[in-house]
Amino acid sequence: MTWVDELPRTGSWPAMGVRADTRPWPAPAEPEQLRRRREVVAAHPDVVQARPGSEAAVAELCALVGAPDLAAAAVAQPDDLCLLAPEPGWPLVAGALLFPSHWRLAEKLGRPLAEVHDRVPGYPAAQVDRFLDRLRPGQVVARRNLLVHRDGELHAPWPAIHDAPVEAWWLRSERQTLRRLPQSGHVLFTIGTDTTPLAELDAGVRRRLAARLSELPAAWVEYGGVGDRLSELVSWLDA
Ligand code: HEM
Repeated sequence: MTWVDELPRTGSWPAMGVRADTRPWPAPAEPEQLRRRREVVAAHPDVVQARPGSEAAVAELCALVGAPDLAAAAVAQPDDLCLLAPEPGWPLVAGALLFPSHWRLAEKLGRPLAEVHDRVPGYPAAQVDRFLDRLRPGQVVARRNLLVHRDGELHAPWPAIHDAPVEAWWLRSERQTLRRLPQSGHVLFTIGTDTTPLAELDAGVRRRLAARLSELPAAWVEYGGVGDRLSELVSWLDA
């Protein structure tokens, strides 16, 4: 079983789609991924940011990772890290966002979760807020999304502007977890990013992906950056 087998296959988008998670965290990292993470932090120090007042929660997170500060925690393990404060609307108060899929931490920091998602059509804001209000320490949930990028660059704060042929595009998926930190009461949101060239998927997976992409609503196509090339992408995957 690989991460490709865990991708959402059917059902509505967007969906909460969370399930209980028992995987140990932090996860072991491949040296190559950590090398890329160190490179990104060195080249773009603003990928790590924390709002005043979040120090105790950041320290609690760093202790979990065994790192002295947030920048060190960001490169000691494979996931991107976001902290949400236990205040109305669960504002994003700190983050280490090295491998973003088309967003910038500085633009979201300090904003409640509903505003963080203001570009996401149909985001179930009330449901997510209620879920976080009830999340207890010790309870961990995970969800996965499905993304298509025009190249394999992990550090992707902006969509790629080049017009690569669909056969050079990449499948990308984030394995996200949510857990409540017992001392500060903040919620830790982790994002683990997996990528693979579409061309390397076997025929069965390509057909499944084509079926999923075809059933996704127009709003996803628009948001997801596949744009007017959906039918081209689906025909190539299905060939
Ligand atoms: C169960 C909880 C959540 C749900 C259901 C959810 C849902 C979504 C969906 C459907 C998208 C569109 C892209 C995709 O398919 O992944 C998205 C994007 C995003 N999510 Fe979430 N999300 C959740 C939690 C969070 C949390 C805790 C954060 C914390 C920072 C977050 C930050 C973002 C950001 C920054 C984007 C990109 C927004 C943009 O493009 O402007 N999400 N989310």
